[in-house]
Amino acid sequence: SQQRLFRGMRVVGTLPVGSPSQYQGPPPRFGKPKEVACFSRDSSRAVHFDRRALRDYTPPPLPVALDDGFASYVPKDNADEPAPLADVFAALAAQKQPVQPGQIVTFRNNLNKLMATPYAPSDDWEIGVHRQPGGVLELQVRETERRQREEAARDERSRRMCYWGYSFEQACTAGRAAAAAAAPRAGEYRVPSPSDPESFAHLYSSSRLEELRRRYGRERGGGGGGGGGVNANEEFCAVMKLELEQVRLFMAAEIDCRAGEPAEYVELKTSKLLEKPRDKASFERHKLLKFWLQSFLAGVPRVVVGFRDEAGVVRKLQAFKTLEIPRLVRAQGVWDPSVCLNFGRVVLEWVVEQVRRLPGAPRLLLRYEPAQNELLLVEEEGAEEESGHVGVKRARI
Ligand code: A3P
Ligand code: MG
Ligand code: MG
Repeated sequence: SQQRLFRGMRVVGTLPVGSPSQYQGPPPRFGKPKEVACFSRDSSRAVHFDRRALRDYTPPPLPVALDDGFASYVPKDNADEPAPLADVFAALAAQKQPVQPGQIVTFRNNLNKLMATPYAPSDDWEIGVHRQPGGVLELQVRETERRQREEAARDERSRRMCYWGYSFEQACTAGRAAAAAAAPRAGEYRVPSPSDPESFAHLYSSSRLEELRRRYGRERGGGGGGGGGVNANEEFCAVMKLELEQVRLFMAAEIDCRAGEPAEYVELKTSKLLEKPRDKASFERHKLLKFWLQSFLAGVPRVVVGFRDEAGVVRKLQAFKTLEIPRLVRAQGVWDPSVCLNFGRVVLEWVVEQVRRLPGAPRLLLRYEPAQNELLLVEEEGAEEESGHVGVKRARI
């Protein structure tokens, strides 16, 4: 039989994705994620194996003008993108945490992409799959050509909107004194409906808003609500041990902040205000799926959403309990958490088995191909060592 090739590389295996209904039913066993290591990156991206970059949540006074401080924003230095796993392995080693042959080490982003596939069948994605000589499986972050094109084509507004997310994180973690008492009261929150006047009232006249923007801009040093400017390089990462049925993973996840006593992790998100019925439907279908998946995987119990207007002014805060998010959308029938997890299990078990059958220390590329609605596992020919990722990305993928 003729050998199948993809971009000149040998196809090792294919797996049809099918439709969400195939993955419905009881969820697979997914143990409570257990934190086994962590690391912090400071503003110069130096790594420390401690929690120095983990910040405390304080609800910011509203409104928050997210665009403030854009001029002094230090974007993430992406010289070492896609993020290499070296820091994750070093963090595991610092805790003397053994990683066994056949176990997977990955950044969370790979699992976000993979498990959302049944509900995003037209978005392609790629993940590097490397087996170390000792048998540990690395899932490397890869950007597709499509994503690189999108990134390169970002216009001014799109770059500002990217800043808004970091600016919100800064605004929510700028407080010091009130930090300990600032747990969001999740039990009281619900998805705002367009008929809920409190959710959508524009609480301030435009002149009052201008005044507030000026004042907050000054008090906060012009930096997106935070003391000092926003530096997207600082981050705290937790490394979680996950059990998905028989699959064992060590997953590094960036953690936005913590709140409460005892402290629990909190994910921060921005989203457009829900003004039209269509906004709410889209929020539930797309945003809540992403928020749930990302937070569920790392066992982060709460997501605090800053709802912003078109100008990037947050007018409402709402906290969601991660485990309750699926129930909020169940009636709409737009997505089902079991589908993501069952699909993830099938794919990861398949990848582990495929790699197990290959000799040596293979370097493969796992790609989701929308046109065929299937996964391809191909040999990543001539792939270099960790430092060569950019070369792999530019020259071959
Ligand atoms: P929002 O998600 O509120 O827009 P995270 O929420 O995962 O902690 O990421 C924090 C912020 O980083 C995001 O805030 C967004 O501003 C920016 N960001 C993260 N991933 C991004 C991506 N793929 N493209 C553009 N911006 C991104
Ligand atoms: Mg974050
Ligand atoms: Mg966030």
